[in-house]
Amino acid sequence: MNDLQPSHPVLSARGLCREFSLTEGRSLEVLRHLDLDIHEAEMVAIVGLSGVGKSTLLHCIGLLDTPSSGQLIYHKDGQTWRSPGLDEAQRCALRNQFIGFVFQFFHLLNDLDVLENVMLPAIVGTPKAEWKQRKHEVEARARSLLDTVGLSGREKQAPGTLSGGERQRVAIARALINNPRLLLCDEPTGNLDSNTSEKIHTLLRQLHEDFGTSILVVTHDPDLASRADRRLAMIDGRFESAADGTDR
Ligand SMILES: Nc1ncnc2c1ncn2[C@@H]1O[C@H](COP(=O)(O)OP(=O)(O)OP(=O)(O)O)[C@@H](O)[C@H]1O
Ligand SMILES: [Mg+2]
Repeated sequence: MNDLQPSHPVLSARGLCREFSLTEGRSLEVLRHLDLDIHEAEMVAIVGLSGVGKSTLLHCIGLLDTPSSGQLIYHKDGQTWRSPGLDEAQRCALRNQFIGFVFQFFHLLNDLDVLENVMLPAIVGTPKAEWKQRKHEVEARARSLLDTVGLSGREKQAPGTLSGGERQRVAIARALINNPRLLLCDEPTGNLDSNTSEKIHTLLRQLHEDFGTSILVVTHDPDLASRADRRLAMIDGRFESAADGTDR
């Protein structure tokens, strides 16, 4: 358990539903009136069987997918954003500034070197006119994050020349470049051997404690789940017990 006591929510989901249309008029109800609160400086693990809707939930929270109904509420520095109700510019800004996303298969760009991959969300999120001013500060932060994840000296390499664990560490540094409030990790060690997984688990926990970032991690890995402050089991498109009262 983290020393920092969770306080205000950074993210709330209320009555979240996601239904997919299938062929011949059929549909699949994946998320069913799901409620969830993630608090400041809290690390929460989501576990559940394959196909239960864990990635779907993360994609909805990360604004990569749109729920069929229900509400997502994001809190930052006394401000509140509610979805639905956001225009495209607000969705992009939240995705870029509020949320960091770590995928199972890294999703790094091989045409860019390691340093450029880490800097990319800051480049995308900075108006062109301001980039010249910000470039040095962003580059320094990217180098410092690469140092934190143990990849100092690898800045100029192409991601394709790194091991799986090293690529995931680059992806974690990239997810943190804009100092997000909420880091969403979808099976971040699902593609890695147990030794490398252990290093990623330690790193996530360390980043969580150093930066106070709230982390929501989907995992099949009991070791990673056990490091979270709270574990939630997803069954039938919602959480087994109340989002706030489980397994601390
Ligand atoms: N775009 C889509 N169209 C139709 N069905 C979809 C779509 N995306 C996901 N699904 C279905 O929704 C269900 C939940 O998928 P999801 O990827 O969220 O599961 P998961 O819990 O992450 O599983 P895993 O542990 O295997 O990654 C699955 O039955 C999947 O086939
Ligand atoms: Mg999944």
